[in-house]
Amino acid sequence: GRVAVLFGGSSAERSISLKSGAEVLRGLQAANVEAFGLDLCGDGADPLQQLQQADFDRAFLILHGRGGEDGTIQGVLEIMGKPYTGSGVMASALGMDKVKCKQIWAAAGFPTPVYAVPNEAADLDQLAATLGFPMIVKPAHEGSSIGMSKVDDAAELAQAITEAQQFDRAVLVESWINGPEFTIAVLDGVALPVIRLETPHEFYDFDAKYQANDTQYHFDHGLTSEQDAELKRLAEQAFEMIGCRGWGRVDVMLDEQRGFQLLEVNTLPGMTDHSLVPMAAKQAGKSFEELVVTILRGSL
Ligand code: DAL
Ligand code: MG
Repeated sequence: GRVAVLFGGSSAERSISLKSGAEVLRGLQAANVEAFGLDLCGDGADPLQQLQQADFDRAFLILHGRGGEDGTIQGVLEIMGKPYTGSGVMASALGMDKVKCKQIWAAAGFPTPVYAVPNEAADLDQLAATLGFPMIVKPAHEGSSIGMSKVDDAAELAQAITEAQQFDRAVLVESWINGPEFTIAVLDGVALPVIRLETPHEFYDFDAKYQANDTQYHFDHGLTSEQDAELKRLAEQAFEMIGCRGWGRVDVMLDEQRGFQLLEVNTLPGMTDHSLVPMAAKQAGKSFEELVVTILRGSL
């Protein structure tokens, strides 16, 4: 049947989704799948009307951020009776909420950095005393490192929280982990080769993700084979614990003392030419076309 590639959307990650969507559409068409692109919310269009007017049998979802990655579109498609790729309503909603994910992982005994969710009345001195510096401040429901900052001392904390609040009422403050960052793509519940990220930036920020040419992606990650197996198992279990389906990507940092620490799960990770899931698939011997066809099969 006809496949609608749903991309665009109205979130802060719209520009990334435009790129991911173009790649996915090209990949599906190259694999002779009858697919067309639907830029949801493009030119101010009403997404419900767009979905109702489009003629499709299944949807390939490649929207990033709120209104696309967060379970809302998934719910609409459930009601329309249209199969779609990737995680369902609940896992998508949880995956978009970094705090809820951490709470579920922590309850299951999985490691995740120490954190706080300061409200308006929060005592920042108390927060600093609890978490220590540096810290990382994030909007609770964003992607692509939008609105994130590293905070090295008390003077920067209030400003970093205000910055994150521009994107989200809920702000997450985590203690900083110095260790290398890893990402693990998960396809049909199974981890693909681990990638270690190395950036000269303070962290793997928006620019390092999509613009800079100085980010390095290492499959030769420096872990022992036991650590590699542990990290893959952790990613698979973290994915499963949130109830994710089909495909996704789990981001992890290695702390010198406490070992691997789960940062988040991305239920609709980037598929741009700078993105990590296609790199991991390629390392596993899967071309981009094979990757998108595998993801599409998961919707059946
Ligand atoms: N949120 C971006 C698209 C990613 O995780 O790849
Ligand atoms: Mg994310």
